[in-house]
Amino acid sequence: MEQAQQPGLAVEECVRRLKRYHYAFKRLHQIFTARITAEPIYELKMGFSLHAHLCAEHTSALRQRVGEMREPPLGLEAVPDPNLALFFDEILAAPSTEELLVGLYEKAVPALKAALMQQVRDTNHLIDQPSVRLCRFALLELEDMLEFGTKSIAALTSRNNAEGKGMLATETRTELLDDCLAASGGLDGTQKPIKKTIKPCYSARPYQYDRVPKRDERFPDPYNMGVNAEAFLYDPKFPPQPKILMMFYKRLREVDVPEMMASIITETSGKPWAYYRDMTRQLWDEARHAMMGEVGFASLGIDWPKQVMINHTWSLALNTQLRPIERHAVLYFIEQGLMPKTGKRFEWEVGQASNNPLSASFQDYDWADEVLHARIGRDWYLKEFKNPQEAVRYGDECWSRVLMNWENWREQGLTKHRNWWPDVYKAACRYWGITPDPTVLAYSTTYQTIRADLKELTGSA
Ligand SMILES: [Fe+2]
Ligand SMILES: [Fe+2]
Repeated sequence: MEQAQQPGLAVEECVRRLKRYHYAFKRLHQIFTARITAEPIYELKMGFSLHAHLCAEHTSALRQRVGEMREPPLGLEAVPDPNLALFFDEILAAPSTEELLVGLYEKAVPALKAALMQQVRDTNHLIDQPSVRLCRFALLELEDMLEFGTKSIAALTSRNNAEGKGMLATETRTELLDDCLAASGGLDGTQKPIKKTIKPCYSARPYQYDRVPKRDERFPDPYNMGVNAEAFLYDPKFPPQPKILMMFYKRLREVDVPEMMASIITETSGKPWAYYRDMTRQLWDEARHAMMGEVGFASLGIDWPKQVMINHTWSLALNTQLRPIERHAVLYFIEQGLMPKTGKRFEWEVGQASNNPLSASFQDYDWADEVLHARIGRDWYLKEFKNPQEAVRYGDECWSRVLMNWENWREQGLTKHRNWWPDVYKAACRYWGITPDPTVLAYSTTYQTIRADLKELTGSA
């Protein structure tokens, strides 16, 4: 009764603040997405994928709430304060992973968290319940993000210390970010802005998205295309059990999908917000698929960074050779091919037949995710074409145009396309306590002439 009798915030003030949280989530989504591709550290790539998705979801929820508060035109694309814009521009343009993490997890996320907590304190819980709900829900996930960020910074700090490297971020740098917030009256604009002209530092020049994927030391042979997973998986002469290894490999290799989708999202402007939300949901699903593969190998005691050569050739080729719409075309072409009998249902059946419940579970959900991705493709890619056939044909054409320099990479010494399969298969057999099957052990088909969709010539998702 006591809380409900407080007048709380006027609708106008409430909307003004909600728009600032909306702006913060939207910019965070942009930064997380844009920094996935060229971030070498595997866990950060995966973490950024999740955090981009969470921020996109909260952005959507806030847009909807603002729309409910007699506000058309909504003005959701307006920048609420130039200093707030500068704050996020500086984080986006941070030249190192360390400075990026400090900006995100020590400045932006805590500031947003403080603002949402203030909102919950200031507004009336009865008359503004829908906003309170959004804030509490967002706070739950901001807390998760903060925990991940804090642990990541601690891990990076101890690694840097061990390697004798310097500070994570300079004093002047964190001061600049603090000044941006202070000059905009705090993230929610409820404080008296300090009077200060802030000079951009890293964002003095327009931010340049880096579309070349980078990987850390757990990807020692990133051009290796020496083991064709699909040719093995779809060959009926091979038994189901070893096929789950190929499926774990295929899943983990999906690290390249967030790398590639981040480039489409970052380099495509002017779409309705729902486009960015849907595409980011898919991006996160693909990151989950990659982690399923990682967990799969761990479940069999296989040390994947040393034994399984996960390449980055697909995202590298697509990001550097195709325009954003052409990359989307390739993605759509591959994913619509995953729906028939030989696709995701088949992988689930293999998982079931292999007596490995974990693999069956992975494939069960992978299949469900893929149906969602097909819907996202229909909503956002297909509509650009006269008919579905034309859209598929264009996807095939774009993929055929991509140069997979199998032989070139070998000649340049970038890889030997080493056949890592026999060693991984033998390791799994030791785990299973069985003798390796000579036919399976002898498998040595590469991607030199056969593409991942088994088209002669060479993907993911
Ligand atoms: Fe996937
Ligand atoms: Fe997918």
